[in-house]
Amino acid sequence: MKKLGINVDHVATIRNARGGKHPDPYLAAIQAINYGADSITIHLREDRRHINDHDVKKICKDKKIIVNLEMAANYEMLKIALKNKPNFVCIVPEKRKEVTTEGGLNLKKNLTKLKKIISKLNKANIRTSLFINPNINDVKLSKILNAKCVEIHTGKLSDLIKIKKEFKKEFNKIAKCSIYAKKIGLQVHAGHGLDYKSTKLLNTIKSIKEFNIGHFIIGDSIFYGLKNVIQKFKKILKN
Ligand code: PXP
Repeated sequence: MKKLGINVDHVATIRNARGGKHPDPYLAAIQAINYGADSITIHLREDRRHINDHDVKKICKDKKIIVNLEMAANYEMLKIALKNKPNFVCIVPEKRKEVTTEGGLNLKKNLTKLKKIISKLNKANIRTSLFINPNINDVKLSKILNAKCVEIHTGKLSDLIKIKKEFKKEFNKIAKCSIYAKKIGLQVHAGHGLDYKSTKLLNTIKSIKEFNIGHFIIGDSIFYGLKNVIQKFKKILKN
C-alpha cells in the first residue's frame, strides 16, 4: 500500500495567528500517526512563518513519529537537520514572498551545493528527497546527485483538476517521470495541492510510493475531523 505523509504546517499557521501555543502541531502529529498517517511532514521555512525551531525539536524528539523535514538547500537548515535527526529530509525551493512552494527545485543552478548537502544527509542516514517538477532531466540529475527519492510537484495538475481544465498532458508527464525514476532506482513521492480527487487519480500511477498532503487535510479536518479525513485518504490509497 502507498504511504501517506501528512503535513502539519497549517496547524502552526493557525497557532501563530494568535501567537500562543494552541493548536499544537506536535499534538496534530501524534494524532495523525494514531489515525494511520505513515509520516509527518514539517517545513521549517527561513522566515519561520508556521513551524518554528521548537516544533522541529519537539516533533523530531518523539521517536513514535516518522518525520519528514522539508527545508531549503542552505547550510543553516542542514545544521538544524543534522542536529534534530529527522528520518527524512525533503529539499525544497524557497522564496520569501511566495504563499507556498510554487514549483520544483532548480537543480542545474544549485548542483554543487545540493551535492554537498545530500552527501552530508546520506552520511547521517537521513533519507533525502528532492522536490522537482515533472521533467525527466531533473529525475536524471536527482540520481546523479545521489538523492534517494524524488517528490514530484503536483501543484499544476491539482490546479487544472480544480478549475476543470484539461489535465491529461500534465498527468502523463507525472506518470512518465514516476515510471522512469522508479526504473533508475529512485523512490517516487508526490505532493502539493492534493485533495481526494487528484489523489485518487495519481494513485493509478503504480510507481508512486508516497503522497505528502497538508493544506487540504488540515482544512477538511475543520469540518470532518482529522480521523475521518485520514481514513478517507487511506481508503483511496488502498485501491
Ligand atoms: N510536498 C512538498 C515538498 C511541499 O513543499 C508541500 C507544501 O509544503 C506539500 C507536499 C504539501 O502541499 P499541500 O499543503 O498543498 O498539500
